[in-house]
Amino acid sequence: MKQKYLYHLLVALLLFAGACSTGPKNTKEAGDELTKPYTEKYRPQYHFSPDSAWMNDPNGMVYYAGEYHLFYQYYPDSTVWGPMYWGHAISTDLVHWEHMPIALYPDSLGYIFSGSAVVDWKNTSGFGIEENPPLIAIYTYHNIEIEKTGAIDVESQGIAYSLDKGRSWTKYEANPVLNNPGIKDFRDPNVIWNDEIQKWNLVLSAHDRVKIYSSPDLKEWQFESEFGFDAGTHEGVWECPDLFPLKVDGTDDTKWVLIVNINPGGPNGGSATQYFVGDFDGHEFIAASKDTSWVDYGRDNYAGVTWSDVPKEDGRRIFLGWMTNWEYANVVPTERWRGAMTLPRLLSLEKKDDLYLLKSSPVKELDLITNRAMTVKKEAIEVVGEKELDLHGINLNQSRLTFEFELGEKLPDSLGLTLQNELGEQIQFTYSDVDKQFQFDRTKSGDMSFSDKFSGIATAPYDVGSTLKLELFVDAASVEIFIDGGALVMTETFFNTQPFNKLKVFADGRPVTIAKAEFVDVISIWQLYSK
Ligand code: FRU
Repeated sequence: MKQKYLYHLLVALLLFAGACSTGPKNTKEAGDELTKPYTEKYRPQYHFSPDSAWMNDPNGMVYYAGEYHLFYQYYPDSTVWGPMYWGHAISTDLVHWEHMPIALYPDSLGYIFSGSAVVDWKNTSGFGIEENPPLIAIYTYHNIEIEKTGAIDVESQGIAYSLDKGRSWTKYEANPVLNNPGIKDFRDPNVIWNDEIQKWNLVLSAHDRVKIYSSPDLKEWQFESEFGFDAGTHEGVWECPDLFPLKVDGTDDTKWVLIVNINPGGPNGGSATQYFVGDFDGHEFIAASKDTSWVDYGRDNYAGVTWSDVPKEDGRRIFLGWMTNWEYANVVPTERWRGAMTLPRLLSLEKKDDLYLLKSSPVKELDLITNRAMTVKKEAIEVVGEKELDLHGINLNQSRLTFEFELGEKLPDSLGLTLQNELGEQIQFTYSDVDKQFQFDRTKSGDMSFSDKFSGIATAPYDVGSTLKLELFVDAASVEIFIDGGALVMTETFFNTQPFNKLKVFADGRPVTIAKAEFVDVISIWQLYSK
């Protein structure tokens, strides 16, 4: 009892501290005048989105001195993609974000495309001192002037450094540090310090493969090898790679994970994120299997990469993606801003027979905004056909829903969940035991007029056993569904014209038991704005 009280007190204190120190501030640099921000239609309440204007890929994700930095592809002058800048936000808890001034502006070498950032602990670059190590951003220059002449080799890599915890950035005067070898797509550098070779490694995407480089100082890069022209999926361009070591659950083994975004060519059309697991010695990446695996089977998780320099004591690999799809990202019906990020996710690696499975689960910090005071707990619900569940005042549109199904030996033909509003608009999530797949149906989800590519049913192959655990994070116009502890994830967006107020469970062919269900309100991370 006492423990429970202490826990609540701690959460309240953390929430209070979070609200005081990391709530968003009115930063003119990050957008124009604030009118009624963060309460607009479709505005996510606990996902990161820019105050105004266009955002795409997450960039430069790095942890330093108690702060998680999130940079992002940003076009401050419009709500459609354009000349790229790096926008910037900071969080101390991965949940509450403070908007910062724009970090990198386009210059004579080009737009600032995607890239990464690292802490140069040993000051190998010489930009700082070891007592105050520089933060280094490594990004792509995309030169539109050269492109206009018809040339294809318009992308090169540049660096910039910060000596004041990411507040201001100076571009290296000898940029670019990595010149284009004569190819069209040559971008999205991602850097990691490699203890084994005592050098930096850089991986970047080169059209249909990734290229790997090494450097002693982040300025001079040496080509090492390439991976992928004969591996994975090739229906689109490879973009935004990330390469990092990860421990295999329950063992002392470490494997290297290579994330490669691809657009188009995803499992449900358009943009998606594939991964390979293998070995890396600082020179060459050897995949255990050349087949593609997907980080997320939903249609709305793209360009995701992971944070660098999370302290060893913490040890987490934390992933975050851009929550949309290039098929319609430029036309979704938001007005003041366009683009939101997924929730930060903890990655883990499981070995199943000879295959490695990359699992994602929501980071534990989300408990800070999980309003346990508004929790509906349900024990053992029997579902025959379809059943509407009592929400006891929970706001479905800003909620966290957990279900534990007990299915026994034989499963119904299909089972699932429907979220619906008074107009009959709905999203439906189904497991079909006949097809051995999950299905996310947004064909009746509301406004779909902006693109003929938006509607439709996304599917994900899966074999449900005698139990099934689902965790859903619903936030305005998106849902992230974590299945069986993140063994499979689906991230989907939708634009219902009125809020959802009905939650239904269905089972076709056989009754099912939900052993436990929990519905929880999630607290807005932008509440300071709404005051
Ligand atoms: C991925 C991407 C990157 C590129 C950036 C441009 O969404 O196309 O390859 O660097 O967006 O904004």
